[in-house]
Amino acid sequence: MTSFGNSLNHLPLASMDDDLSSVLLTEGQIAERVAELGRRISADYAGRDLVLIGVLKGSLIFLSDLTRRVTIPHSIDLVGAQSYMSGASTAERVDVTKDIDLDLRGRHALLIEDIYDTGGTMRVILDMLRMHQPATLEVCSLLSKKKRDREGVDLKYVGFEIEDVFVVGYGLDYKERYRNLPHIGVLSPEIYT
Ligand code: IMP
Ligand code: MG
Repeated sequence: MTSFGNSLNHLPLASMDDDLSSVLLTEGQIAERVAELGRRISADYAGRDLVLIGVLKGSLIFLSDLTRRVTIPHSIDLVGAQSYMSGASTAERVDVTKDIDLDLRGRHALLIEDIYDTGGTMRVILDMLRMHQPATLEVCSLLSKKKRDREGVDLKYVGFEIEDVFVVGYGLDYKERYRNLPHIGVLSPEIYT
């Protein structure tokens, strides 16, 4: 497919774009929504000791954009989770590979996730973070897939509701590739089947 909607489209992104069946969210749409989330978080957490906690590696790009759109003082930290998947299907097991560094006691923790799919990863990370006794613990996920059967996790903030399709870009990978795409696209099924 031809690439569009990004300011780098004269660079050799085309080879990665060729693996997409469509662009779901352009760089501009994402930036606008991230700015809106930043405004809401800044208002909701004003006067509170906020910590944004990103999940490696999928939420890195989202976290780095969002933190600059949150205008109140806050800290950032990272946790690591590795989900073992077969192909592009859902996680079969989740291992925590990195705990947080900061002391969360009495602070307001906001988990920053790339995508709410089965909810398995989020549940494991939320259980771990709860042990650090934050005053509050909420979730902000850039994407949420429309799915019926999954772990019920309450998301305080959602960037975009998307269909149950496999997407890459803006931090999201397939076999560790495509994270650097500035937009989010649907990966062509022939890439993973
Ligand atoms: P979970 O099924 O909600 O536990 O999601 C586990 C992890 O799988 C997410 O944090 C993502 O890293 C990854 N994942 C789920 N759906 C997609 C997708 O459509 N594209 C890329 N990664 C995905
Ligand atoms: Mg992944």
